[in-house]
Amino acid sequence: MTILVTGGLGYIGSHTVVELLQNNFQVIIVDDMSNSEKFILDNIEKVAGKRPVFFPFDLKRKELLSQVFDAYEIDGCINFAAYKAVGESQEKPLDYYENNLFSLINVLQEFKTRNISNFIFSSSCTVYGQADEMPIDENTPLKLPESSYGKTKQMGEEILKDFATAYKKKVSLLRYFNPIGSHPTALLGELPIGVPNNLVPYVTQTASGIREKLSVWGNDYPTADGTAIRDYIYVVDLAKAHVKALQKLLNETSETVIDIYNLGTGKGSSVLEVVNAFEIANDVKVPYQICERRAGDITVAYANADKAEKELGWKAETSLEEALRTTWEWQKYLVNRG
Ligand SMILES: NC(=O)c1ccc[n+]([C@@H]2O[C@H](COP(=O)([O-])OP(=O)(O)OC[C@H]3O[C@@H](n4cnc5c(N)ncnc54)[C@H](O)[C@@H]3O)[C@@H](O)[C@H]2O)c1
Repeated sequence: MTILVTGGLGYIGSHTVVELLQNNFQVIIVDDMSNSEKFILDNIEKVAGKRPVFFPFDLKRKELLSQVFDAYEIDGCINFAAYKAVGESQEKPLDYYENNLFSLINVLQEFKTRNISNFIFSSSCTVYGQADEMPIDENTPLKLPESSYGKTKQMGEEILKDFATAYKKKVSLLRYFNPIGSHPTALLGELPIGVPNNLVPYVTQTASGIREKLSVWGNDYPTADGTAIRDYIYVVDLAKAHVKALQKLLNETSETVIDIYNLGTGKGSSVLEVVNAFEIANDVKVPYQICERRAGDITVAYANADKAEKELGWKAETSLEEALRTTWEWQKYLVNRG
């Protein structure tokens, strides 16, 4: 089986490529390296013992994409390629709509024309907004996200539902909660550009002295310690869920399938709990300061991931502390690389 992985040199994509290779799938990566680097390809090979086929181009370039489909018999796609910075999406909404939706549609057009099925889409818990009740399951009503980034995820889901229904295709929409951590080999991990938006890379950069202090955005939320609560899912656990979701689609006998799964641990952790767990796991201090709440941040989000356990046989297995240990090893690797 040959799987196209768009954005396969990115954070979640690279970990998933390793899992696919280790499960004997052939992998073709298309990534324009707008948020990744070439050494990740070498490191994928070091970890998995196999080198995936790699094409460095922008998926908006339809003619190049078509050539890949001409050259290889593709059986499915996992679509990670997207811009993902929530704040930036508010400043550059058109870039986000253009990149995240046109690149998606271009791949779907090839699937339609060439009669290929099995498409997995990286969605996000942002599609739920601030849900009224916790935990969030797949039937929790969606709310219009505040950011243009979040809207591209909701629109992407709608495009895929229409695609599956009209052309009789099998699709899986995976709603990730908050991915953290790095590969246990410390050869793969997140590469944040500039000041990280996400908590854990901000914590690791502060611990290693790149940032003076971690900014904790608000300690007046209605939570036990006043800081916001999220569901932190270890990236290798998340990567494994993609293989399970793909295997399910490949085994489906129905022509049309629209799967939707929450991928989280089911447990919420506050910002200060994460800081504390990081300090204990790695025996380093993380200086922090309390700042004003950040616009658009919600109070609490954690998953009910029972559906994924029941239907995919998948469950998050790695503890927060263990995930935070891997992230620190990755940070040290990046510092040593220079
Ligand atoms: N990391 C998170 O917190 C999170 C949470 C929920 C959902 N997601 C979604 O998961 C997916 C992967 O996220 P990630 O954290 O690995 O991001 P990432 O930025 O590390 O990976 C995305 C990859 O796609 C590539 N890319 C972007 N636009 C492209 C284009 N037009 N053509 C070719 N390549 C392109 C980038 O170079 C990058 O390597 C994204 O769709 C993201 O929105 C991420």
